[in-house]
Amino acid sequence: MMLGVCYYPEHWPESMWQQDAQEMRQLGLQYVRIGEFAWSRIETCDGEYSFEWLDRAIETLANEGLQVIMCTPTATPPKWLIDKYPDILPVDIKTGTTRGFGSRRHYDFSSENYFREAMRISTVIAERYGKHPSVCGWQTDNEIACHDTTHSGSLVAKLAFQQWCKDYYQNDVEKLNTAWGNVFWSMEYQNFEQIELPILAVTETNPAHQLAYRRFSSDQVVKFHDAMVDIIRTHAPNRFVTHNFIPLVDTQTDNFALAKNLDFVSYDNYPLGRSDMFFKHMPAEQFKPYMRTGHPDFSSYSFDQSRGVSNKNFWVMEQQPGPVNWAHHNPRPEKGMVRLWSWQAFAHGADCVCYFRWRQVPFAQEQMHAGIKRNDNSKAAAWAEVEQMRDELAKVDFTISDPVQAKVAIVTGANSQWVTEIERQGDSYNHQRVEFAYYSALRQLGLAVDFVSVDHDLTPYALVVAPCLPIVPQAFVDKCQQAKVHLVIGPRSGSKTDELSLVPTLAPGVFQALVPVRVLSTETIRPDCSEVLHFNGAKFESQCWREELELADGVNVVATYHDGNPAVARHQNTSYVATLTCDIFLLEYFKTLATELDLTILTLPKDVRVVQRGQYTYLFNYAGYPQTVPSELQGQYVLGSASLAAYDVAIVKLA
Ligand code: GAL
Repeated sequence: MMLGVCYYPEHWPESMWQQDAQEMRQLGLQYVRIGEFAWSRIETCDGEYSFEWLDRAIETLANEGLQVIMCTPTATPPKWLIDKYPDILPVDIKTGTTRGFGSRRHYDFSSENYFREAMRISTVIAERYGKHPSVCGWQTDNEIACHDTTHSGSLVAKLAFQQWCKDYYQNDVEKLNTAWGNVFWSMEYQNFEQIELPILAVTETNPAHQLAYRRFSSDQVVKFHDAMVDIIRTHAPNRFVTHNFIPLVDTQTDNFALAKNLDFVSYDNYPLGRSDMFFKHMPAEQFKPYMRTGHPDFSSYSFDQSRGVSNKNFWVMEQQPGPVNWAHHNPRPEKGMVRLWSWQAFAHGADCVCYFRWRQVPFAQEQMHAGIKRNDNSKAAAWAEVEQMRDELAKVDFTISDPVQAKVAIVTGANSQWVTEIERQGDSYNHQRVEFAYYSALRQLGLAVDFVSVDHDLTPYALVVAPCLPIVPQAFVDKCQQAKVHLVIGPRSGSKTDELSLVPTLAPGVFQALVPVRVLSTETIRPDCSEVLHFNGAKFESQCWREELELADGVNVVATYHDGNPAVARHQNTSYVATLTCDIFLLEYFKTLATELDLTILTLPKDVRVVQRGQYTYLFNYAGYPQTVPSELQGQYVLGSASLAAYDVAIVKLA
């Protein structure tokens, strides 16, 4: 378990580098990530490279024993390149206007000019530093799906999409017309050259067309990224290659596909900035306690996904050290939270946590974003917490390969998110929030959770939960049957074909082999118009999304709607939840199920979370007051104790 930092030597006078490097070492940092936005300084104009400053920066860091993570600078193509090849700029799909130069990520994944130039600069840098003894690893680009840049409405994107459709539908335009249902509203095409992007139409475009465009756009990103990974691997033998992902549930790229050629996934953790956006629907009285901490399950939700995407340990490449600048509101973390988030990342499978950034920069877009140091070079609030991390990490004996072992898995994937975004059926369904609600309920019971794709092996699990899986491969159903897991599927699951049409046997389609029910109708309702849900003799809430179920003989009713009709049904090892519910229902429901499945659950104080990694159990108190953990968690405490202070962490080897 190691620490690192993101550093921008090009932002500071060279006279400061030496002291920076020395202080980084003293602070216990081992890794320094550099270079991801430095293209204009590396290649000052076409073909003219200036590497001497970067050589010296690396040397300065290396002399202090620091290891460098080098990046390809492709998130920021410089002005001279844009002027030379204007088709690099992407086109906004909502307005049809070209997105301009002057920030970052201003490139179109379908621009052949950009593809070539991005691979050229990656090659030049990888050739120069690939074998450098102090460059231990590489980061590709930067947050490749961020700022809505996966989709472009450009001419080059349209031409590439037409080619993608040709390949996908084996050069048979009738096949495409039938698959999409283009006879509806006379949308039929006579040849692939007529195909439009599904943007800027008068009203809603065909959902199948939209899904194809999303798949195509994701494939373009993966193709670009894979080519870059290949270049780095060619020139940088025995170095790791990673990418810093943004939250994995909020992306237009298939993360499982993006991660497949990486050594491990990295994640950029901004719990407060992201919470401000994710929980904006939450009433103030619920949100306020977490305003400076983030929701207790919010960071770990992303950590567990990061571990899941490549099915191994991950890194945090950027950790928020203080207020950020880009959310709707940017509070400071409570004292102790930078340490807590760092430990929580390690506990959920991180091998390294890097802080963003070393020093607050006085100029340009992120001048209000905190660093470990302030722009006058004084130590900012996070400094003391990183120091504490250094000392605590040295105290405990960790085995790096210790895995998190979960008996519960959540099935996730980009297709599911895309389907729910394309086919909204009202305003009350939000895929991320639905998935988070299921995850949070499981975590509140102290259960460790893995995130898996439909292709993943299910045999390690006792409980597999698919909060939303509209498109289901038959192979997944077979796997569930063979693995003998208990499967819980949420509403909308199994409802669509691979081309986003209704399944012929009614939802949940192929899942009917496991739970013989039929969804007769679907309604969406306002979030503030919830209705009663009866379960285990108590009353809960059904809300937002409600399906009418018809049950075959032998299917049991687990919960009912206000009108007595079935809301949750079960057949043998499979349960179908036909509605969205309140959070307390999920908690009670999983408690009952976990007891039946013999999964160990805990009764934790509110805002305390527990997770086990290897031989240690990690405890976190997100509350602003002290709390004591239950007696099952007694053992040898290697950090802290069973009495947790506000925003505190403890580590115990259970008796
Ligand atoms: C990240 C990004 C960084 C920086 C940071 C600010 O998403 O990768 O470059 O912008 O946000 O919080």
